[in-house]
Amino acid sequence: MRAEKSSHWHIGVIGGSGLAAGVDLDEAQEIAVSSPFGEPSGPVTTGHIGGVRFSFIARHGAGHRLPPGAIDYRANIDVLKRCGVTDVLALSAIGSLREEMAPGDFVAVDQFIDRTVGRRNSFFGPGMVAHVSLADPICERLSRLATAAARLAGGNVHPAGCYIAIDGPQFSTRAESRTYRQWGADVIGMTAMPEARLAREAELPYALLGMVTDYDCWREEEAGVEVSHILEVMHANAELARRTVRALAASLPDVREPSPIDTALEHALVTASEARD
Ligand code: ADE
Repeated sequence: MRAEKSSHWHIGVIGGSGLAAGVDLDEAQEIAVSSPFGEPSGPVTTGHIGGVRFSFIARHGAGHRLPPGAIDYRANIDVLKRCGVTDVLALSAIGSLREEMAPGDFVAVDQFIDRTVGRRNSFFGPGMVAHVSLADPICERLSRLATAAARLAGGNVHPAGCYIAIDGPQFSTRAESRTYRQWGADVIGMTAMPEARLAREAELPYALLGMVTDYDCWREEEAGVEVSHILEVMHANAELARRTVRALAASLPDVREPSPIDTALEHALVTASEARD
């Protein structure tokens, strides 16, 4: 039997490169949560901001020890779900494929192109078959609230953008970077997939605020991407990310109305429903 979601918000925050230090939570407690799906990136820090519960996990683990391909995305989403999270806000470093999306800007991603291969991208498999809809992979409500919060915090926020997910850990070639632009991608990163897919399967509304750290390598005059530069930009903007989370806490409606994503599996399971009870 699946648990009913409460009318209280409980925001799970997944912090990417440069954001491992987390967000400032009152009465913060670090808890080790285990998952049958594997090893999460690290403990979950749970606490509250102005009465709203937040639970934070550092995507790359303490000390950035996990490359994108070694992150157990299933375990990370599963432990947030086990903590009772109702919605997930992902914060990530991204490269920009558009002139107007400049380093330091936020992009509230609304679409994905997934070029990752070989990552475990579903909680389901033989014995329990499910096909959730991913046409609109981002929760529009949470994304709108996060966009407004990032603006209140002083960020320059682009309200939409298509994210292309690559495996990495290498950055793209110039030919790839130019091709992705032609495909309609606006920003690039290595981690939001399969994270966003799994959040949907876990019936967790998911929004992604990407922070632009670089222009990738599609511009002739641009040198290749340097990870030291990415971390520099992320560290310089970590406080903006923390302010955004505080502004989000302050702006959430008192009551969390149900989201259609809360019941995404209702019409997605192919295997007989009694298997779930
Ligand atoms: N993360 C930040 N910048 C990136 C880039 N240019 N390519 C892939 N992932 C990134």
